[in-house]
Amino acid sequence: MGQLRVGMVGYAFMGAAHSQAWRTVNHAFDLPLSAQMTVVCGRNPDSVAAAAAKLGWSEHTTEWRSLIDRDDVDLVDVCTPGDTHAEIALAALAAGKHVLCEKPLANTVAEAREMAAAAVKAQTNGVRAMCGFNYRRVPAVALMKQLIDAGKIGTIRHVRALYLQDWIVDPEFPLVWRLRKDMAGSGALGDIGAHIVDLTQFVTGQSIRSVSALTETFVKERPMPTGSAGLSAGRDGAATGKVTVDDAALFLARLDGGAVATYEATRFATGRKNGLRVEINGSLGTVAFDFERMNELEFYDGSLPVTEQGFTRILVTEPEHPYMSAWWPAGHPIGFEHSFTHEVRDLIEAIATGQNPAPSFTDALRVQLVLDAVERSAASGSWTEVETALIAA
Ligand SMILES: NC(=O)c1ccc[n+]([C@@H]2O[C@H](COP(=O)([O-])OP(=O)(O)OC[C@H]3O[C@@H](n4cnc5c(N)ncnc54)[C@H](O)[C@@H]3O)[C@@H](O)[C@H]2O)c1
Repeated sequence: MGQLRVGMVGYAFMGAAHSQAWRTVNHAFDLPLSAQMTVVCGRNPDSVAAAAAKLGWSEHTTEWRSLIDRDDVDLVDVCTPGDTHAEIALAALAAGKHVLCEKPLANTVAEAREMAAAAVKAQTNGVRAMCGFNYRRVPAVALMKQLIDAGKIGTIRHVRALYLQDWIVDPEFPLVWRLRKDMAGSGALGDIGAHIVDLTQFVTGQSIRSVSALTETFVKERPMPTGSAGLSAGRDGAATGKVTVDDAALFLARLDGGAVATYEATRFATGRKNGLRVEINGSLGTVAFDFERMNELEFYDGSLPVTEQGFTRILVTEPEHPYMSAWWPAGHPIGFEHSFTHEVRDLIEAIATGQNPAPSFTDALRVQLVLDAVERSAASGSWTEVETALIAA
C-alpha cells in the first residue's frame, strides 16, 4: 500500500484531535493509502518533543519551513491560529504538498482569495487542499444532507443556526489569542460562526447572499495571559489588554435558493458548552441537529398521514448511516473526535483517487466572504451583499 506522509504544524487542541484522526484512520477504514505521522512542528523544543511522544509522531521540529522542505512529507496539516494559515499553506502548496488547513481558512478575505487561487493552481499538479470544517463529517449532519438532497423536506424555507459557548463569560478570563483580531481575525464569528455558515451552506446546497448583522463585545478589557493556548491560560500579573474581536455575532440572512435564515454565534451563552444547533424547515418537513446529542437527528415528515405526523428521533448509529459501518455494532454512539477521522478519511480517498476534496479552499473562501459581509453589515447597520468574486478584482 502507498503511504501518505504527514507533517503537522501545531500540536495543542486541534493538533491533538488531528493526531487522533491520523492515528486511527487506517485502523477504522480500508483506504488506498496508509497515513504516516512523520513529523510534528511546534515552537518550543521541549514541548514539541513531549507532544510528539504523546501524540505518536515519529519526529519533531521547531521550524515549519523545514517541515515543508522535507522530501518525506507529502501533506502539511495546519493546526495553528489563523494568523499563520496563509503563510504556511501557501508555502506548502508552492512546495507541491497537499494541505489540510484548519478553519476559518484565513484571517482576511484577501488571504483566503490568495489561498484559494493557489489551491486551484496546485490542482493541475495533482496537489489537493481541504479546509477543516469537521462538523460536515458528523454522521447525523451527513444524514441531514442526504435527506435534504433526497427532497424529504421539500423546498427549504427556514435555516436556523446557533453555535453557543460560554468559556469567556468570566470577565477575569485572560486575553488568549482567540480574543485578539491580529491572531484570530474575528471572535465568535470566525471561530464558531464559521462552522454554522459552512454547515448550513453544505446541507442546504444554498449560499448566503446577503446579511443584516450585529456584533457585540461585552468585556472590552481582560487580564493578560501566561502562554498562548487558545481556550485556557493563566493570568499574567495585573496587566490587562484590549479585546479586539466580537464576543457575539448575530445575523439574518437570505440564501440564493430562496430560504431565509438566522445565525447566532456567541461565547456568552452561560451554560452552553458546545451548543451547535441547526434546524431546517422545508415545505414537506423539518430536520434538526444538536451537537450535544450528536448521534441523533430529528426528522419531521410532513408527507405522512396527519395522524402519524410527529418528530422522529433517528439514532444515527446504524451501519447504513454515513461513515458508521467503520465503527461499532448498531446502537453504539461515536464522539467529537470521529468527525476528524472521517475528515482525513475523505481527504485520503480524494488524494488517492485524484479528486478534489470538499470543503475546498474555494468553499472556505465562500465562508470567509460571508464573515466579511457580517462584519461590514454590523459596522454599517444595514443589509449587506456577500461578495461573489472568488478572485481579487
Ligand atoms: N474544527 C474545529 O472544531 C476546531 C476547533 C478548535 C480550533 N479550530 C481551529 O484550529 C486552529 C488552531 O486552534 P487550536 O484550538 O488548536 O489552538 P491552540 O492554541 O490549542 O493550538 C495552537 C497551536 O499552534 C502552535 N503554533 C502557533 N504558532 C505557531 C508557529 N508559528 N509555528 C508552529 N506552531 C505554532 C501552538 O504552539 C499550538 O501548538 C485555529 O484555526 C482554530 O480556529 C478548529
